[in-house]
Amino acid sequence: MSQNISTIGVLGTGTMGAGIVQVAAQGGYGVVACDSSVEALEGGQRYVREGLQKLASKGRLPEDAETVYGRVSWTTDVVELGGCGAVIEAIVERVEPKKEAFAALDVLLPAEALLLTNTSSISITDLASATARPDRVCGTHFFTPPPVREAVEVPRGYHTSDETVERVKELIQSFGKLPVVVEGDVPGFVANRFLMPFMLEGVRLYEQGVASKEEIDLLVKKGLGFPIGPFELGDFIGLDVALDVTDYVHEETGDPYYTPPNSLKRLVRAGRLGHKTGGGFYDSGEGNESGG
Ligand SMILES: NC(=O)c1ccc[n+]([C@@H]2O[C@H](COP(=O)([O-])OP(=O)(O)OC[C@H]3O[C@@H](n4cnc5c(N)ncnc54)[C@H](O)[C@@H]3O)[C@@H](O)[C@H]2O)c1
Repeated sequence: MSQNISTIGVLGTGTMGAGIVQVAAQGGYGVVACDSSVEALEGGQRYVREGLQKLASKGRLPEDAETVYGRVSWTTDVVELGGCGAVIEAIVERVEPKKEAFAALDVLLPAEALLLTNTSSISITDLASATARPDRVCGTHFFTPPPVREAVEVPRGYHTSDETVERVKELIQSFGKLPVVVEGDVPGFVANRFLMPFMLEGVRLYEQGVASKEEIDLLVKKGLGFPIGPFELGDFIGLDVALDVTDYVHEETGDPYYTPPNSLKRLVRAGRLGHKTGGGFYDSGEGNESGG
């Protein structure tokens, strides 16, 4: 446990939020998990319960799975986050909804509480501007799936204080994770400046008819030795999230390299978002299930 924080709030229990809830509960914290959608909340409950049971069955959970699960309370009411010492926001990758959520949380939370965001690309300084505590706002960018990936990218904003960065590092370490601080508040930080070109190159080669999705994924994995191919990765992270990140980096940098590819836009408009909707680039069940 870290610096007198006993309860952690997680706003958004989708692909990432659910994993963060599990990680925080395993770290011994009380967790308030909040999502505006009952369906997403139920999905989060299933994810955490099954994840903990799987770890317990492999002998990799030092406590009883139900004890850990019991530390989490689930709600659709954001007011219930009011007593938390830190809130990690993991909602949609768009500036306005995140700023609205930050403004609301700023009013609800105790003065010393940390306001953290799992954003993949959006300026921490911009999100912090929606609050009266920009010195206590910081990025905590977990990777998917959060219970498995070791590193957490910690991008700081213009006003994020050194004390906040130290508190965040301590918090991430108390989850058993490795915090990596990124000083520059640039679109996509470090991780997504690697990840998005990886996906964009794959999609463009496919659109140009250079090779099929399967062939590209195979070459990247079996040739280059990457653990996952770009199309499998897109389906794993969610094509809507990939499109939002690409859009944001494109808009902020003005670099035409980041122009979102048409085939990605088409799939998102058709509701094919990847594993979370049963299919994206591939129908679910095809391709490699290992995470990236
Ligand atoms: N998917 C990934 O691989 C990945 C990896 C790292 C970071 N991220 C980042 O994490 C964040 C969440 O991504 P995700 O993939 O989990 O998205 P997701 O679509 O799976 O989940 C988002 C959840 O937020 C909820 N939500 C939306 N607006 C809300 C609000 N105002 N109040 C409460 N709940 C709200 C939705 O109901 C949904 O359950 C994004 O910022 C994304 O960029 C995603």
